Amino acid sequence: MDQIEEIKAKVDIVNLISESIPLKKAGRNFKANCPFHSEKTASFMVSPEMQIFKCFGCNLGGDAIKFLQLYEKMDFWEAVEFLAKRTGVKLVHRQLTREDVFRNKLYQINSLISEFYHFLLTKHKIGEKAMEYLSSRGIGNQMINEFKLGFAPEGTDAIAGLLKKKGYSTEEIENSGLVLPRGSGYRDRFFGRIIFPLFNHRGLVAGFSGRVIPGLSSSDGPKYINSPETQIYHKSENLYGLWLTKQEIREKKEAIMVEGEFDVISAYQKGLKNTVAIKGTAFTEEQAKLIARFAETAILALDTDSAGSEAIKRSSQIADAVGLDVRVAALPKKFKDLDELARNKPELLEKVFLKTTPVWDFLINLSLKKNDARDPAGKRRILLEILPFLVQIENEVIKNFYFQKLADALGVGLESVLMEAQKAKTAKSVFSGPVLPPRQPTSRRDLLERQFLILIFAARDWQRFKDKSWFGLISDSLLKRIVVFAGKFVKKKKEPEIASFLAVLPAELKKGFEEIYFKSAEAKTDSEGKEIKKVFLEIEKESLKGRLSKLSGSISQMEKQGEKEKIKKLENEFVEIGHRLSVLENE
Ligand code: GTP
Ligand code: MN
Repeated sequence: MDQIEEIKAKVDIVNLISESIPLKKAGRNFKANCPFHSEKTASFMVSPEMQIFKCFGCNLGGDAIKFLQLYEKMDFWEAVEFLAKRTGVKLVHRQLTREDVFRNKLYQINSLISEFYHFLLTKHKIGEKAMEYLSSRGIGNQMINEFKLGFAPEGTDAIAGLLKKKGYSTEEIENSGLVLPRGSGYRDRFFGRIIFPLFNHRGLVAGFSGRVIPGLSSSDGPKYINSPETQIYHKSENLYGLWLTKQEIREKKEAIMVEGEFDVISAYQKGLKNTVAIKGTAFTEEQAKLIARFAETAILALDTDSAGSEAIKRSSQIADAVGLDVRVAALPKKFKDLDELARNKPELLEKVFLKTTPVWDFLINLSLKKNDARDPAGKRRILLEILPFLVQIENEVIKNFYFQKLADALGVGLESVLMEAQKAKTAKSVFSGPVLPPRQPTSRRDLLERQFLILIFAARDWQRFKDKSWFGLISDSLLKRIVVFAGKFVKKKKEPEIASFLAVLPAELKKGFEEIYFKSAEAKTDSEGKEIKKVFLEIEKESLKGRLSKLSGSISQMEKQGEKEKIKKLENEFVEIGHRLSVLENE
């Protein structure tokens, strides 16, 4: 057995997945709401027997490795390594690509440097000023440790030398984003700043952000600077705080989106632990997709200034497109951001998030406040402002609800709003959302054949595969191969059972068998097999109908060519099959 097979055999996919998603027992399988698309009824299934998962809503599925790739965004080998550790399997040759090795080096560098900055802040005299600033902002030691805050010293040549001494190459040092070229050497990118390591959602330090410390001589320049894009830091994918807050976000199914690092830390310190920061104003598609894996609802608690409402507009569309329910929390006017609220009125923290507004109502209200809805010019401006957003709402019912609401607010008929909406729709959309892969269209015949096999496996009716006479009725090539394989299987096995069937089923058939298997676990069986008979009868009928339509095609072909003899033969056949069909239809 190769190592990957060994790992897969040792890991229990039910345990693994249930650490992230609450699974409910459903017969022989487990069920949950799919973490990969938004849904209200559970169509995500996990099979302990097959050690696979499958979602019947969005069609994603696979083994434990695949789950980690999709859910934790690991690449294949990261997932293998993760499971190897978990199962205690020693990977002999870790087949890492050159890029993997390089990326790992960058993570190591970041981890080392975050420890270094953290040490300077918490243990070294030169970190005192920074420490004072943090305490002036009410940040306690526990937060400093949990968020591993640090201090980048004021000199500008700490990092390159340190990394060189630790044996990192020039290429690695340059690509870390921690240094900039200076003369023939390097200078530090961050100096005289409070350091926030930017952990990714898996808890690895992907990059850093640094804030100036008021009163510290050399901390000039922008208030915040961040790592540049590197092989491991992608600004558009990072959500600050997620590595610490994802559990709480998952449990509450709600993520509070804030602007900055301090907002997350302050709120966390006061017990509000389901926040993440988008750091600045642009909420990206990648961030929306990431948060949609953990939450159903995103509550925007962004700054209340005008830049804040711009951010809300943009965020609303991006989040809606990935299936997030987007709501807006109104912070009391006195407080600029969540950090100020948490520091000054922590008792309001929970309350503010109890009453939130759907983002579409928020945007409509905002526009109504700014413009006069009684004035024609005002009506026009409101429509121009709001419609580009409303037309992009994914859900038709919700969309129409807001068209009506807008019409009411303007005191006009729904018709005219809909006509204006049509115009707004043809204007270029701000964001084109991701599209879930469409489900494969299936014919009635196809569905019946599948259902037939589902019922056979549900009843564990292995005997049926001993009689090959019906195999010809299965037209789908994949299903046919499964059936033929099952035929050979029952011939060899005295006591056929599903586990040994699965063990020998070829990999390329296993994929196709997954759906049948899962559905069979849910299908109701009746002891006399009435349902099976019914479905089989339908397949026979479909098959005869198919032959009839082929025959009539051939007959008209022959008529064109004047082939009297052949026509006669075909017509006889047509009558005979038609007769068989009518017999079946009367059964
Ligand atoms: P604090 O005083 O640190 O709490 O900042 P603030 O409350 O004034 O927050 P502000 O709205 O200025 O910034 C919110 C977030 O945007 C910060 O936490 C940073 O992540 C980011 N940000 C702020 N200023 C800058 C800047 O000059 N450059 C960059 N790249 N990001 C910034
Ligand atoms: Mn702030």
